[in-house]
Amino acid sequence: MNELILVLDFGGQYKELICNSIRNLAVYAEIRPGSTPIEEIKRLAPLGIILTGGPDSVYLPDAKKADPEIFSLGIPILGICYGMHLICHLLGGKVGPGEIGEYGRTKVKVLAPSILFSSGTSNVISSNPIARNLIAGNSISSNPIASNLIAGKNLKVLMSHRDSVHRLPPGFTLTAATRNCPAAFENTGKKLYGLQFHPETKHTDSGKEMLKQFLFSVCGAKGDYRLDDYLAAQIKKIRAKVGDKKILLALSGGVDSSVLAFLLAKALPGQLVSIFVDHGLMRLNEGDEIERLFSAQKFALIRVNAKERFLKKLAGVTDPEQKRKIIGNEFIRVFEEEAKKISGIEFLAQGTIYPDIVESGGTYGAVIKSHHNVGGLPEKLKFHEVIEPLSGLFKDEVREIGRKLKLPATLVNRQPFPGPGLAIRVIGEVTEEKLTILLKADAILREEVKSLRRRPSQYFALITDSKSVGIKGDERTFDKVIALRAVTTDDFMTCEYTALPHKFLRRVSMRITSEIPEVSRVVYDITSKPPATVEWE
Ligand code: XMP
Repeated sequence: MNELILVLDFGGQYKELICNSIRNLAVYAEIRPGSTPIEEIKRLAPLGIILTGGPDSVYLPDAKKADPEIFSLGIPILGICYGMHLICHLLGGKVGPGEIGEYGRTKVKVLAPSILFSSGTSNVISSNPIARNLIAGNSISSNPIASNLIAGKNLKVLMSHRDSVHRLPPGFTLTAATRNCPAAFENTGKKLYGLQFHPETKHTDSGKEMLKQFLFSVCGAKGDYRLDDYLAAQIKKIRAKVGDKKILLALSGGVDSSVLAFLLAKALPGQLVSIFVDHGLMRLNEGDEIERLFSAQKFALIRVNAKERFLKKLAGVTDPEQKRKIIGNEFIRVFEEEAKKISGIEFLAQGTIYPDIVESGGTYGAVIKSHHNVGGLPEKLKFHEVIEPLSGLFKDEVREIGRKLKLPATLVNRQPFPGPGLAIRVIGEVTEEKLTILLKADAILREEVKSLRRRPSQYFALITDSKSVGIKGDERTFDKVIALRAVTTDDFMTCEYTALPHKFLRRVSMRITSEIPEVSRVVYDITSKPPATVEWE
């Protein structure tokens, strides 16, 4: 059994980032709902608990709460943002709306030594008016902004809140503040810590060090989580479950299903049958590349060329969600038809990963993915059991397992590609003509990106449903508009548009307009997420 850090979720957008950051520090962490019963928490016996952020106001009646008994278990607790408010509210302090919200990188002064900010702080709290008021139980909302606070250390941290701590709970010390509000407090005797900001993001100076301090200095973790152990344990488990039976996998060529194929081939040599449904909406030559790579491996690969079927179903459809639904359903139908032709398969493997489980509101091992790229489970097929050996892992961990299993780097580092494929990058109706143009434009962009020193996290072309006037030779044209998109991100929840060099964009634009006669114009999307999403549809 690994050491466990429990991440109790109150609807925070960074819960996965918190959990993943902890695992990257070699400590196993799992996300559970904030309402997890105290008995369950006791049973899990975590080394430490993190309370996440969340959208609620803790002082309102229907705000999500943790069982207050968690504070008397003797387990170290770190509350982040809303999590800090919970500690405050449930232990007798006061939380209220701030006069102003703080969003983005914000300056914080460290006021007192704290194990979380392990180095170089001076104790200035006793000379600090805001700190004195808080401890004495006064509300800070009426206080002047504490710009005169400190001679302590400055940090830039990521803030995203409107509510703030107005009065500390008894027994707590203020250890950091911004100009507007408390930024950190603690009760070292009870091992309770609160941070108003987000140490889990890279936008917080020394955030990783703060998490490290919590894990290793406060919780006393040893750091016993290793992916090698996960891999070995899964192989053992798969072998015990499947025995000498055959197992089926829907292979898409994406990272998850590819890693799973290699894992199953290692665990069960000769027993894996994989079906690759080529919906004809992959990038140029991608279907052939997948076939080439996987047919050289030691398992059976069946490729189904179903482009015609998919395009027929998509004819006349312009609504993006409708397209997704049609593709998901058709995928299952094709998969079922193929699977029925193979006899004696009792097991099905799915490339579900941990974020899929978390996003569908379940816990590891309890939920079968409902929104997977393949669109869900084939209902008509009866399997003895469905196995999901990657369902405890984050994407970066899946990639790491892929490296350990010696998957080619092109596959392990493959940029994300949506399940519905190019159907959502052909804006409006998907037609053969638009698809062919897009394939060419996207291939040009991808070829040129190879020359960049740093590649964006995701980059692609899309074909808009606009037309624009152009001039080619002496001829006036009225033709297609291609848009280019490139984003930089760690997690795809928020993204910056990538500031690609102008010279690069000019070259790509010139190549697309000269090599693809139907394109009259190329535009570059400079919108970040939010407010835009990565995909246009
Ligand atoms: P958005 O557009 O939501 O995209 O900002 C975030 C990430 O998700 C990918 N994406 C999808 N992936 N099925 C998928 O498997 C989908 O329907 C889908 N829509 C978007 C997108 O490419 C980006 O990496």
